[in-house]
Amino acid sequence: LDSEGSNSAIRSQKHTILPYPSLKPPSQPPKPTPFQKPAPLTTFSYDASHQLHFDDSALRYYIPPPLPTPQSRPGNNSSHYSADLGVDLGYGYERWIRRPEERSRIDSLLRAVERVTGLGNGSSDGTGKMEKMKLSDVGVVAWRGVITRILTAPYEDNPRETWDMNVMLVNGTLYLEEHRSEEMIIEKNNIKPHHRKMMYYGYAFESYCTTDAPPPEQSGLHSESQRTSSSSTRGAGLNSGHSHPSGWGGDVDTNVQWCSIVRTKLGDTKFIIGGEVDCVEGEYNGMSTDNFVELKTSMAIRGAVDEAKFEKKLLKFYFQSFLLGVPKIIVGFRSPNGHLTTTQTFQTMYIPRLLREKANTNLNGPNANAANAWNPSLCLDWCHNFLTSLKQTISSTNGRELKSASATESEGAAIWRVTFIPRQGAKIIKLDELDS
Ligand code: A3P
Ligand code: MG
Ligand code: MG
Repeated sequence: LDSEGSNSAIRSQKHTILPYPSLKPPSQPPKPTPFQKPAPLTTFSYDASHQLHFDDSALRYYIPPPLPTPQSRPGNNSSHYSADLGVDLGYGYERWIRRPEERSRIDSLLRAVERVTGLGNGSSDGTGKMEKMKLSDVGVVAWRGVITRILTAPYEDNPRETWDMNVMLVNGTLYLEEHRSEEMIIEKNNIKPHHRKMMYYGYAFESYCTTDAPPPEQSGLHSESQRTSSSSTRGAGLNSGHSHPSGWGGDVDTNVQWCSIVRTKLGDTKFIIGGEVDCVEGEYNGMSTDNFVELKTSMAIRGAVDEAKFEKKLLKFYFQSFLLGVPKIIVGFRSPNGHLTTTQTFQTMYIPRLLREKANTNLNGPNANAANAWNPSLCLDWCHNFLTSLKQTISSTNGRELKSASATESEGAAIWRVTFIPRQGAKIIKLDELDS
């Protein structure tokens, strides 16, 4: 979506505000908006130059990471890998090839949409796995991150987490894209060294737990030879000549990504959603998302306050994975200085139940409100209502304007800006009104 302008430019009074729903549990819970299990449409890869290829060259395979138990790693005294401390996820930090932050565009997603709806030149991906969809049936096209932010918006209480989205409605399909102003991009590229390092830990964990060749069947715990026999790191790791004592190259190139595009349905609205998938467990057959895995890092939990914070993060982890049909989330817990201490596996679909049950057995602790603090049905209902209202607002304005001009709908499609304001709601405004 080709748009300019920043948050601070919003001065027009002509806007619609959709307030967030109350977070108090209703006395009679409504029937939740149904969400269909996501089905894969296609996949693509970004290479080390961040060029797009409709193939699985960037696909990674999960290998369980060695953890700091003296039994599993006898006699290993390396400074980067210690039986007592766990691997240093800061290893290779100074070699990190970091993809610069830029405007968050949906161009590559649109190329995938063209292919799966048969609009583009390449109407087949040559693998036979691609399903076709009619674009006219699709209500929403967006990256998974955008839908996650919409879904979780009612629970976002940090005022600094205000964010903007650009929207276009073309022939009945809403195209959603995060809006980043120039200042925001500069800020994101100049984050504090401490935050930059923490970001690296997350990517390093993804690199440490994955390899570019499918592991031998029933490998169980990975072996060092497996990690070393393939380029066990992102991107061009093979050539770096670096090797961690565990066999890990510590080569992190965040240009390289593997993305899955899925179809799904919320209420009666069909979606095409794309997002990065960290790895698969076992073989990849291209036909289902059932062995997709999301990898996350988090600070080791040292007490009840940390635990409450982590549970809040789980809301985002949950929706992020849920939207792409990723059934498993593996969290690597790390020490403050980046040593991997342990991992925990979560089955995505059981996360809400897990937290509800926990909250019910811990009614007086700092997590006492966790049961109310997140109700995924509320998020789905809100998202559905929001998208319906957004479409209505845009359609009615477009309709009025089309009557007074001789443009077709796609010619007349305006760009809209939605601002999500924590604790308040979503402000919808037509972009050309920004500077009026
Ligand atoms: P962690 O989430 O393990 O900290 P993802 O988990 O979504 O695949 O993202 C991989 C890593 O990218 C994250 O690892 C984090 O380091 C970084 N990252 C992703 N989204 C981010 C955001 N909104 N802000 C800061 N860092 C982010
Ligand atoms: Mg990722
Ligand atoms: Mg991840």
